[in-house]
Amino acid sequence: MLTEYIDSAERAAEIIREGGLVAFPTETVFGIGVDATNGDAVAKLFEAKGRPSNNPLIVHLDDGSHWARAAAELPTVARVLLDAFCPGPLTLVLPKLPIISHEVTAGLATVGVRIPDHPIARAILRTAAVPVAAPSANRSGRPSGTTWQAVSEDLDGRIDAIFTADSTTIGIESTVVDCSGLDPVVLRPGAITLDQLQQVVPQTKEFEAGEKRRIVVSGEPVNSPGILHPHYQPHAEVCIVEVPPVGISVEVSAVSAFCGTEGFEGLDGFALSKVFGSLEDYAAGFYEFLREVDRQSFERVFIQTASQEGIGRALRDRQRRAAGG
Ligand code: TXA
Ligand code: MG
Repeated sequence: MLTEYIDSAERAAEIIREGGLVAFPTETVFGIGVDATNGDAVAKLFEAKGRPSNNPLIVHLDDGSHWARAAAELPTVARVLLDAFCPGPLTLVLPKLPIISHEVTAGLATVGVRIPDHPIARAILRTAAVPVAAPSANRSGRPSGTTWQAVSEDLDGRIDAIFTADSTTIGIESTVVDCSGLDPVVLRPGAITLDQLQQVVPQTKEFEAGEKRRIVVSGEPVNSPGILHPHYQPHAEVCIVEVPPVGISVEVSAVSAFCGTEGFEGLDGFALSKVFGSLEDYAAGFYEFLREVDRQSFERVFIQTASQEGIGRALRDRQRRAAGG
């Protein structure tokens, strides 16, 4: 397949309506959009990403008032969250509408709904006028694409088009909140923090490992099914460190990379390094740094853990998963 490089929302919408796959930017990461009501097109998307078929996709809409194009019902708490945070980096898991293909939801009775806050994404969604399922634009298991060049590395020749827009600003994926049960439960941390959610819906909980959820995959209750699969992993070995790795031998640092928020003595010895000025910058640049580590074929990358504040919690989650655990 020859991938088209485009910069027109009309062209993107046209390809999606014809059953094609188009990578486009959102404020979190790039997504690969496909018509969520077209089961064959959705199947092509799983194939292009190499995504396990039991991992459901998020459906994107151009406006919160259009929730009924994907969901059968908007529980009161979901409406409160929608009014407070959408458009924005939040995905609400809601009872699904039959028109959404079951390939999208991996057979679940619920659907993830998100209204991205990005002018290009919203223009594409408005013009396409169909619900658009869009997973992060990367081969399954790899760090998510936050630049169109990263998307191209993973997906050129595998999808119909790539929108050549600027890098995404937030850099990690949306907060996923299950609103299909009694109280909202955060299934995946993101830029909208638990604190922010609790300010508008105090009973919002964080998912606790071992907790029984209503979502069942292959007979096993799990939280967000996505956590079953390896994710965000570079080819290099990942070493998570609490503090900068002072005292690493010259031989090791010469074949290693480092990223974090603190400079230290010995930093210059690392063949590739990046010290981010803020947690927001760290989140925005994290996946692209992992990709650069692989482009330059490093054996190892030392990753300094993010602090727990704000987006740091979500970044820590991705760091832990990049390390495979
Ligand atoms: O920021 C984002 O959310 C990006 C952009 C492109 O919008 N999308 C994204 O999609 O990260 P993806 O497919 O990489 O991750 C979707 C996550 C997975 O962890 C999946 O298991 C979860 O959302 N999810 C989707 N539908 C669900 C459902 N019905 N119930 C529970 N979890 C669901
Ligand atoms: Mg993903």
